[in-house]
Amino acid sequence: MTKLRLDKYLAEMGCGTRSQVKTAIRKGRVKVNEETVTSPEKKIDTGIDQVSLDDTQIVYVAMEYYMLNKPAGVVSAREDGKYPTVLELIDQKQRNDLFPVGRLDLDTEGLLLITNDGALCHELLSPKKHVKKVYYVEVDKEIPKGAAEQFQNGVDIGEEKLTLPAQLEVLTPKTARLTIQEGKFHQVKRMFEAIGTNVLYLKRLSMGTLVLDSSLPCGQYRPLTEMEIRILKGEYL
Ligand code: URA
Repeated sequence: MTKLRLDKYLAEMGCGTRSQVKTAIRKGRVKVNEETVTSPEKKIDTGIDQVSLDDTQIVYVAMEYYMLNKPAGVVSAREDGKYPTVLELIDQKQRNDLFPVGRLDLDTEGLLLITNDGALCHELLSPKKHVKKVYYVEVDKEIPKGAAEQFQNGVDIGEEKLTLPAQLEVLTPKTARLTIQEGKFHQVKRMFEAIGTNVLYLKRLSMGTLVLDSSLPCGQYRPLTEMEIRILKGEYL
């Protein structure tokens, strides 16, 4: 049983800011179990109570999980003064506290998990967990012979330590799949720079057990399936 204040319930469900929903409640626009409630502090049992705003039922959703095929030109942030954000693409979201799990560069495409599950986010991003991320990469020059071995041994990208072992699968002379187990700033681009090439196109294909749905067009998203969520949380192994 989860109990929370009526104003928090409505704000979390994206009905407005905390002060906007307080005003709506005080004006008598909110009902709990068919009765008008004018006190924002009223405690709501999310599993039992029925809440409506202007007679539209507001169902409480504790956690949301979306897989986005991020397009270029959109920032992996909650807010940005210049570019559209990945959250603006999730028009079906109900909660107001979603965030992207990690960052992809402005020009990077591909898999991005959007959720409000902070514990899962920590599991996926903590450097200690070594969660594998797979990227498809296109570069400007032929990938040098020996690159796979260099990446396996670690390369100098200007950090204190070499990069952790990464697996490079060369697909064509200028394209490859790279699996890394850390997530330093611009890591993939800096690794390819370290072997004398520049990344022209980058797309994330997977993160841990979560694989980008190949039927999801660039710029589109879908909720994760129950199975994907359970596997991602390590509950189904
Ligand atoms: N590495 C990069 O260089 N950019 C990304 O967006 C992700 C990984």
